[in-house]
Amino acid sequence: MRNALHLLAFFSLFVLSTRGDEHTHTYTELEEVVLWMNTVGPYHNRQETYAYFSLPFCVGPKEEISHYHETLGEALQGVELEFSGLDIDFKGDISKTEYCEIDLNEERLHTFIYAVKNHYWYQMYIDDLPIWGIVGEIGEGQENFYLWTHKKFDIGYNGNRIVDVNLTSEAKAELKAGTKIKFTYEVNWKPSTVSFEDRFNKYLDPNFFQHRIHWFSIFNSFMMVIFLVGLVFMILMRTLRKDYARYSKDEEMDDMERDLGDEYGWKQIHGDVFRSPAHPLLFSALIGTGHQLFVVALLVIGLAIVGELYTERGSMVSIGIFIYAATSPLNGYFGGSLYARMGGRRWIRQMLVSAFLLPGLVCTTAFFINFIALYYHASRAISFTIMLSVLSLCTFVILPLTLVGTVLGRNLAGQPNSPCRVNAVPRPIPEKKWFMEPWVIVPLGGVLPFGSIFIEMYFIFTSFWAYKIYYVYGFMLLVVLLLLVVVVCVTIVAAYFLLNAEDYRWQWTSFLAAASTAGYVYLYATYYFFFKTKMYGLFQTSFYFGYMALFSAALGLLCGTVGYVGSKHFVNRIYSTVKID
Ligand SMILES: *[C@@H]1O[C@H](CO)[C@@H](O)[C@H](O)[C@H]1NC(C)=O
Repeated sequence: MRNALHLLAFFSLFVLSTRGDEHTHTYTELEEVVLWMNTVGPYHNRQETYAYFSLPFCVGPKEEISHYHETLGEALQGVELEFSGLDIDFKGDISKTEYCEIDLNEERLHTFIYAVKNHYWYQMYIDDLPIWGIVGEIGEGQENFYLWTHKKFDIGYNGNRIVDVNLTSEAKAELKAGTKIKFTYEVNWKPSTVSFEDRFNKYLDPNFFQHRIHWFSIFNSFMMVIFLVGLVFMILMRTLRKDYARYSKDEEMDDMERDLGDEYGWKQIHGDVFRSPAHPLLFSALIGTGHQLFVVALLVIGLAIVGELYTERGSMVSIGIFIYAATSPLNGYFGGSLYARMGGRRWIRQMLVSAFLLPGLVCTTAFFINFIALYYHASRAISFTIMLSVLSLCTFVILPLTLVGTVLGRNLAGQPNSPCRVNAVPRPIPEKKWFMEPWVIVPLGGVLPFGSIFIEMYFIFTSFWAYKIYYVYGFMLLVVLLLLVVVVCVTIVAAYFLLNAEDYRWQWTSFLAAASTAGYVYLYATYYFFFKTKMYGLFQTSFYFGYMALFSAALGLLCGTVGYVGSKHFVNRIYSTVKID
């Protein structure tokens, strides 16, 4: 039942709100304002979070209010809102009031000391505005530990809306066995001139995100693109023109001469160049998924630019999942039609691989990390019902939509359309210099694309793994577009060199050469982990490397597909203009 509810909540994302009275964000005089306690966790491990009340904090006197319904996106991000029990009313000042008391027995003492030692801090929400506070403080000499016991809220209002919240932690109490600790709070309401639309601005960090370095990186990629496009254009135009001239001169010679002539280069392999790549099933599934990811990435970034998604918890993840599910027909269409053109017959198997390739990868990673999260009792642990709803989403939405796409793709675009016929017998691939081998071209292919994005990667990593909100999606869109242009240029050059060495295995080579960008991104992520963060512990480490691997895999699929499509157009182009005898 809850499973069905989750799905329902998920699909009504754009239509209805799943939240109660907080939704309108307007309050009347002395109307109840809810303080939600979210999570607590070590400062350096942003993803290692636990429910706030997993520490032995006590609840205020107020009775439980209406239950909070979380969205799928929130559940997946480990949001765990619980009512604080504090009585807060709109525009009602409250002077320092005690709300609860705890007896520090040995067990609680140890838990609190552990939390203070590890720099735990917690997060709360008032009217969807996040508030962070620190649990305690380590005394001089690392021997005494203190807990902050007084929470002072300064809440700014503008008309009937809440526009600003500041929390000040005061009154240290030393953690000693057998003592009682009293918790107090205080609320001061202040008129503020911040407008409701701008109330999230104080969480953004323009000094960081709009730093000169960031602009410089865009400029850098842009110059790289101009340089590369120019280079590709020049090389190809000059070489191709020479090649064409040479080939047409050959045609004027008679057969005898031509047999003896020095024919070499890409034209020689016209009978093999459109031969299906090895493992056509896997290849078409990868390409289909890559097409889908391309559209998902552009749509999500576009929506993020328009919609300021960071103001709503979990909405980015929810929207991402929704768009991924809704674009599944693209996966089927491009994967299925490519497989049909390559003469594949096991199309049902191809469709299944296509549909479950990425969801399967994500779920497997999440599953293993979930094991560790469960062991740690972290709030990131995904509950069984959430898993079920994700699973049913895959089977009842993604799979049928992929099927529709596959059937359409096979019927509308399944006819082979390559400009040259494929010979019955494969031509042997001649010996060539070592640097023309695919295993050299593939890793080299990723260097320039990585060079064009690694500064942006720093900003994206920092906002995901540290306490910063990423909001400059315009930058991201630009960088993605520049990256794709670089990828296409690089793969075209790679494909040209390969074909010129009379090696016709260009499909996998251009896919992998572009996808190797992701390998460098993963290496960079490893560097980032060791030198830019202070994460520790099994949970955070596996979370980091697991999700970075997923991110890199998705990026690799995206780049690989764009690279393959680019070089496919190039190959089609050069072989359709040459006269094949
Ligand atoms: C919160 O703190 C900021 C910065 O110190 C200040 O400008 C703002 O007025 C404070 N808001 C309230 C409601 O006290």
